[in-house]
Amino acid sequence: MEAMPPDSDVVYEWRGEVDNAVVNRLHAEGFEHSLLDIDWRTQLDRHSLGWVCARRCGELVGFVNVAWDGGVHAFVLDTVVAASARRAGIGTELVARAAREAGAAGCEWLHVDFEDHLRGFYLDACGFQATNAGLIQL
Ligand SMILES: CC(C)(COP(=O)(O)OP(=O)(O)OC[C@H]1O[C@@H](n2cnc3c(N)ncnc32)[C@H](O)[C@@H]1OP(=O)(O)O)[C@@H](O)C(=O)NCCC(=O)NCCS
Repeated sequence: MEAMPPDSDVVYEWRGEVDNAVVNRLHAEGFEHSLLDIDWRTQLDRHSLGWVCARRCGELVGFVNVAWDGGVHAFVLDTVVAASARRAGIGTELVARAAREAGAAGCEWLHVDFEDHLRGFYLDACGFQATNAGLIQL
């Protein structure tokens, strides 16, 4: 028998319809910044390989953006799960779907960077290997 998905009420969609206001609200809550007016639809269409939306009863509860170099490298950005829906496996499943879709699109490497407290999430739960990486704030 196939294992149950982490939360069977949650529906995941690759490159699903996004509502800018809804993603902006989720992003502001998740990353604890003020509400911004980002045009996600245009940005995602122009610059992303894809994105994964997680919805419960039609409500957006999770999102991850997969940026792309046009070749074999894809980059996980903006992984976010609504505070009320955390620690139920949704974040792990978002990243797993992102990885699967990036692989299916011909990518060979999926990159991510994160703060120290998320090592358990990205390394243990999502399966990323630790590596050296660098970052410059521009
Ligand atoms: C990080 C985030 C996406 C995780 O989503 P989630 O749906 O809660 O994650 P999961 O339920 O799949 O977590 C799986 C495991 O990862 C680890 N983990 C998850 N969130 C964690 C956190 N905030 N701190 C430390 N470990 C965490 C735990 O080991 C967890 O397993 P457990 O619940 O059995 O202990 C979510 O906490 C979030 O949206 N945070 C705010 C935005 C953010 O910082 N995003 C990351 C950008 S790099």
